[in-house]
Amino acid sequence: MATLAPTSSFFLLLLLILQLYSGKSDLQINYYSESCPRAEEVIKEQVTNLYNIHGNTAVSWIRNLFHDCIVKSCDASLLLDTAEGMESEKTSSRNFGMRNFKYINTIKEALEKECPMKVSCADIVALSARDGVVLLGGPHVEMKTGRKDSKESYVAQVEGFVPNHNDTIQSVLSVFQSIGVDTEGTVALLGAHSIGRVHCTNIVHRIYPTVDPTLDPTYAEYLKGRCPSPEPNPNAIEYARNDRITPMLLDNMYYKNILSHKGLLLVDQQLVSDPDTYPFVEKMAADNAYFHEQFSKALLILSENNPLTEEQGEIRRDCRYKN
Ligand code: HEM
Ligand SMILES: *[C@@H]1O[C@H](CO)[C@@H](O)[C@H](O)[C@H]1NC(C)=O
Repeated sequence: MATLAPTSSFFLLLLLILQLYSGKSDLQINYYSESCPRAEEVIKEQVTNLYNIHGNTAVSWIRNLFHDCIVKSCDASLLLDTAEGMESEKTSSRNFGMRNFKYINTIKEALEKECPMKVSCADIVALSARDGVVLLGGPHVEMKTGRKDSKESYVAQVEGFVPNHNDTIQSVLSVFQSIGVDTEGTVALLGAHSIGRVHCTNIVHRIYPTVDPTLDPTYAEYLKGRCPSPEPNPNAIEYARNDRITPMLLDNMYYKNILSHKGLLLVDQQLVSDPDTYPFVEKMAADNAYFHEQFSKALLILSENNPLTEEQGEIRRDCRYKN
């Protein structure tokens, strides 16, 4: 049996110490193994309980990850409420329709009971999405932890990062490219629109005054039934489900839907008409395992976008307010 020579084990130790003292350790697998060994289990328990009560909480956790991480960093800046003259990102029109934020507090309270002031809200955003994906029939994504929370909200920057429902696919691709997600990964991430809902405000321009010719006519009739007025009251809960066939499954039905011209958002439908994205749509529609594989990869990159580590951020006591 080969054993390490004493000198090489000395250098390994030195390296470890250097890393500990450098103060800027990167994200790591099981970051809380010492400080809060049950952290990941507690999050999973809470996410599962919440899913059993309100299945759509799991849907929200996935959208949270996107809307938090794409704006500068995965730093839970999305979760801050308006306070002390700082306006919440939740008020941006790009974050319209986001829901279930109050249940983040449920998860955070369980963690505070387990080990006070140890687990960041940014890691709750990441891990709740990871666990939500599995509950919705998606793949398990191995995620690192150790993100810290921002002390700032970036409401003015949301529109620069979160695309609008009618943006061109090329502009969507360039936003994702800027954080390291390629075309294939972007097509996979949009597969998140295989779950959840879209409010009529984001749909009516495709059916009134005339029906968008890229929309399946029978499907357009169905949408008119869901959204009977061309000017929906934005406060009314009028919406259509993203995927009528398997609405609570993160599966490749989304790609089959858009191939048959049953995409809800303009951005969804464009994945089919753009020659850069179309081949991936076809592949994902044909193979759920391939979709899951690409979705995992891209979600991981998104979840590691520019995290704040150690002194760059804090661990919030309450995810809605900085300490
Ligand atoms: C890149 C372009 C994207 C655009 C323009 C976009 C836009 C939208 C819009 C307009 C809605 C409906 C909001 C409403 O009316 O209530 C929505 C819902 C949703 N989006 Fe996206 N999205 C994009 C990408 C993503 C990505 C990358 C993810 C996650 C990985 C995601 C996850 C979701 C989920 C889960 C919902 C349903 C939310 C619910 O039912 O509460 N989206 N998106
Ligand atoms: C996109 O939709 C917004 C409303 O969300 C609208 O104000 C804007 O004019 C639309 N842009 C295009 C290019 O259609």
